Amino acid sequence: MNSLSSSKFPFPFLFLFLFSFSWVASADRHEDFLQCLHSQNSNSISMVIFTPINSSYSSVLQFSLRNGRFNTGATPKPLVIVKPLNEAHIQAAIACSQKHGLQIRVRSGGHDYEGLSYVTVVPFVVIDLINMRTVTVDVGKKIAWVQAGATLGEVYYRISEKSRTLAFPGGVCPTVGSGGHISGGGHGMMMRKYGLAADHIIDVKLIDAKGRILDRASMGEDLFWAIRGGGGNTFGVVVAWKLELVTVPPTVTVFNVTRTLEQNATKLVHQWQSAIGKFDEDLFSRIFLSRVNTSQEGKTTILAAYTSLFLGGVDRLLSMMQQSFPQLGLVKEDCIEMSWIESTVYFASFPRNTSLDVLLDRSPGSTGSFKAKTDYVSVKEPIPEIALEGIWERLNQLDAQVAQLQLTAYGGKMDEISETSTPFPHRAGNLFQIHYAVFWGDQDITVDEANTTSWVQSDATQIEVYNRIGEKKYNS
Ligand SMILES: Cc1cc2nc3c(=O)[nH]c(=O)nc-3n(C[C@H](O)[C@H](O)[C@H](O)COP(=O)(O)OP(=O)(O)OC[C@H]3O[C@@H](n4cnc5c(N)ncnc54)[C@H](O)[C@@H]3O)c2cc1C
Ligand SMILES: *[C@@H]1O[C@H](CO)[C@@H](O)[C@H](O)[C@H]1NC(C)=O
Ligand SMILES: *[C@@H]1O[C@H](CO)[C@@H](O)[C@H](O)[C@H]1NC(C)=O
Ligand SMILES: *[C@@H]1O[C@H](CO)[C@@H](O)[C@H](O)[C@H]1NC(C)=O
Ligand SMILES: *[C@@H]1O[C@H](CO)[C@@H](O)[C@H](O)[C@H]1NC(C)=O
Ligand SMILES: *[C@@H]1O[C@H](CO)[C@@H](O)[C@H](O)[C@H]1NC(C)=O
Ligand SMILES: *[C@@H]1O[C@H](CO)[C@@H](O)[C@H](O)[C@H]1NC(C)=O
Repeated sequence: MNSLSSSKFPFPFLFLFLFSFSWVASADRHEDFLQCLHSQNSNSISMVIFTPINSSYSSVLQFSLRNGRFNTGATPKPLVIVKPLNEAHIQAAIACSQKHGLQIRVRSGGHDYEGLSYVTVVPFVVIDLINMRTVTVDVGKKIAWVQAGATLGEVYYRISEKSRTLAFPGGVCPTVGSGGHISGGGHGMMMRKYGLAADHIIDVKLIDAKGRILDRASMGEDLFWAIRGGGGNTFGVVVAWKLELVTVPPTVTVFNVTRTLEQNATKLVHQWQSAIGKFDEDLFSRIFLSRVNTSQEGKTTILAAYTSLFLGGVDRLLSMMQQSFPQLGLVKEDCIEMSWIESTVYFASFPRNTSLDVLLDRSPGSTGSFKAKTDYVSVKEPIPEIALEGIWERLNQLDAQVAQLQLTAYGGKMDEISETSTPFPHRAGNLFQIHYAVFWGDQDITVDEANTTSWVQSDATQIEVYNRIGEKKYNS
């Protein structure tokens, strides 16, 4: 957040030169910062300030931390965590960090892939919005005001309390925060019907570097454009979003069918690419790909799990699939009808009939480690079958034992929104997104972290490479 950061170190080289002194200086600086906060005359602020001397500091820091890679002794820690209860607390934290040369990291749900909401290499303060998470739904106007600290699960739950046919087109994981998610675009199970979460923001409340509280009218359309998909921690602290809700039918249908290589997964993934263009926009389609053991000793295969939400009943889904993707062989028994809110619990991988209350649970199922990134496959260059085989080879590398690829179909509404209407440019022309991830550190999986993260960074996860593998095989 350059605009909110210290002006003491205007040049990187100067900063490097001073680095060795900075930790000595930072002890004073954080004392000054605390004094400043107390002097800002903002009510009750001492109850929401945490420094390493407070016994709850570590648990506060870790509560919204979703990547174990940034939960080690070597991870730089904030000098102070502020958990504001109101806007005045945020304004005080901004003013004082500027005055005393501390950088700010804003945290809503803490799901940042690279820990950017709670880690940086200069002395810093975390503004953690966990206490600001009120969701107010107006069914008549089909809108909701959502404070940035609310998770997607909280947003979905509060909407469903009021209506079975209103919804919001955000992401899948219920503990993702609205603040960071919508700032980066935010895609989920209704994107082919409704586009991104950021496409449904009609107003905002933001506090800028000068401490001003701005809304859409007072910030102007340029800034309002930039905060809807340009990434968080950049233009100010989002306090709340005004969401435009969307309508869903009372009954939706879900399925998750799997095919292994022995069940023609390669052909099916290849054919899926041509099917996407024929899918109704009521259908969301994603394939999870990973290496799995077979029952035979020592043998592995690739498993493709086809996961879908359909905004309609099972009969219409089956006839649509018969027309667009008969090769998958979807049958009624694969499908489950439910309400949209139940589908959010289903796609969060909770067992069937789990109480909707789990959507309000912000504590993580696990704090394992992961490294992930995404890129896009263009409609002009679908992946040839032989290149898919190259992908299977990469998934069979030793270091990819905990790797997972997600192929997410774009198209539908995503094609209708211009690439300049928000900072999120991946619109028409994109056939699907590939998300590459490796997960480790849970229970008994042991992997070499450096090796695993380098798999994600390596050319094992680049579309061009897969296509080159394809070309090489075609040409030889
Ligand atoms: C398990 C998991 C599942 C995910 N599923 C999806 C998905 O289905 N769809 C999808 O699109 N994405 C998904 N994501 C990615 C997720 O949307 C982004 O990581 C998002 O930035 C997380 O928002 P957050 O508030 O939880 O994270 P944070 O770590 O709190 O914030 C992320 C970034 O935004 C900044 N920021 C946070 N709050 C504010 C604020 N109020 N004002 C200004 N800046 C702010 C932070 O400083 C940081 O730079 C997933 C991530 C994880 C870890
Ligand atoms: C943390 O400790 C300081 C100093 O003792 C105290 O003023 C502050 O109220 C404590 N924070 C909380 C949340 O209790
Ligand atoms: C795989 O494809 C072959 C040839 O197209 C077909 O004969 C076979 O039945 C398919 N196998 C499965 C499990 O669908
Ligand atoms: C697969 O088998 C290997 C060797 O038997 C074992 O180490 C590994 O944990 C298994 N993986 C899964 C996902 O079951
Ligand atoms: C879909 O199936 C795969 C493979 O069995 C599983 O790993 C995944 O959790 C399932 N997804 C959902 C949403 O149930
Ligand atoms: C879930 O609840 C429905 C409706 O009450 C019931 O018919 C179904 O058997 C339940 N499923 C499971 C797996 O418990
Ligand atoms: C990871 O380790 C394996 C086994 O030692 C090696 O074959 C592979 O090349 C390494 N991968 C990366 C990306 O470094």
